[in-house]
Amino acid sequence: SIDISKLRDLSGAITLDQGYKNTGACKSEITFLDGEEGILHYRGYSIEELAEKAHFLEVCYLLIFGELPTKTQLLEFETHIRRYTLVNEEMKSIIDGFPTTAHPMGVLSALTSALIAFNPKAVNPEHPDELYEAVCKLMGKFLVIASWTYRKSLGYPLNYYDNTLEYVENFMQLMFKLPTEPYKTDPVIVKALDKLFILHADHEQNCSTSTVRMVGSSHAGLFASVSAGISALWGPLHGGANQAVLEMLEEIQKNGGDADKYIAKAKDKEDPFRLMGFGHRVYKNFDPRAKIIKKAADEVLGTLGVEDPILEIAKKLEAAALTDEYFISRKLYPNVDFYSGIIYRALGIPTDMFTVMFAIGRLPGWIAQWKEMRLNKEPIGRPRQVYTGSPLRSFVEMDKR
Ligand code: ACO
Repeated sequence: SIDISKLRDLSGAITLDQGYKNTGACKSEITFLDGEEGILHYRGYSIEELAEKAHFLEVCYLLIFGELPTKTQLLEFETHIRRYTLVNEEMKSIIDGFPTTAHPMGVLSALTSALIAFNPKAVNPEHPDELYEAVCKLMGKFLVIASWTYRKSLGYPLNYYDNTLEYVENFMQLMFKLPTEPYKTDPVIVKALDKLFILHADHEQNCSTSTVRMVGSSHAGLFASVSAGISALWGPLHGGANQAVLEMLEEIQKNGGDADKYIAKAKDKEDPFRLMGFGHRVYKNFDPRAKIIKKAADEVLGTLGVEDPILEIAKKLEAAALTDEYFISRKLYPNVDFYSGIIYRALGIPTDMFTVMFAIGRLPGWIAQWKEMRLNKEPIGRPRQVYTGSPLRSFVEMDKR
């Protein structure tokens, strides 16, 4: 018989770090994050400066290719993306297979995966032309299919990319243009959306990005890896929190607006309820993105003349949590998702599309991280474990169980 203790000895020393709270999985040149100081940089540029001065596609280029684009490079990038915005007609029958009640994130993940069937050529990231084409293809088609997940839920005809409009502007017409009326985009809305996408564009080794790198490390293709990232983002502890925040605020409002009651619930260890939009694995003083978004929420609502009682509830909740010993001692502050939902709502984006909005913003980050992982020739991701199950035992025949 086998002596299990000997087997354990053979396995060697293993570091157990559940949730990878203190384990680096890779070296990266893309995003710098200091959780104590609340600092976030993309390729060395501060998030504050990028959100104020850059456009989303410029930031995409910066993240993926390492430098801010020149005017010509940006124009070329936009032109190439535009070239690939047509989505294969057969993809529509895949969409038709989903019930209208399907969550847009599930549909988006499936459709992104399905894109592989229509673009089967494996991308070699070491060939710059192949990579460039794959990046533009994904950026172009992703925006269109993301909007289709919404159109599908309404049973509306699917819209196509309008080549006279820019990328972010296009998203609004893809979502909301009706065949019977001309669609006019509001520049305030486009600017706010652009900023939100920039703020979400990368965040180093978060759950969905680590998923993209992990899946890609087996040399699965770019589209397959991104599809896995979408599923990871969907969870309420990650990107799904923006939808959960709004649902929570609506519930508080419905129940009389008593923020303190929900604070008490969040503090109760017998109650699984958590204050959605609060806390972050890395930011332990403040989330720099939340600061920018909070200001943007006030601006957008002011400019659009929206008076949303939800914003008042959010402010009440934030004030109550920030002065509460439970939240102070655990360094729990509002994160990016706390305010993003309020802006999306003001822009007319339906609640179950919030996480899709996050995915559109995060797409360049996923692509940049996948590319870096492949070019760095990282080994296949394969964590170890500490086995806590049964020692070796003899098989029990069916009639003796
Ligand atoms: N409400 C109430 N208590 C909380 C919350 C919260 N939102 N977040 C953490 N805590 C408490 C925990 O119960 C724990 O308390 P304890 O020490 O008494 O056991 C302590 O704070 C530490 O929490 P952890 O779960 O260990 O922190 P972790 O770093 O693992 O989790 C996370 C971070 C997932 C973001 C968590 O704060 C959370 O669930 N927040 C709500 C969901 C959310 O907003 N997610 C979005 C994250 S940002 C993004 O993905 C873009």
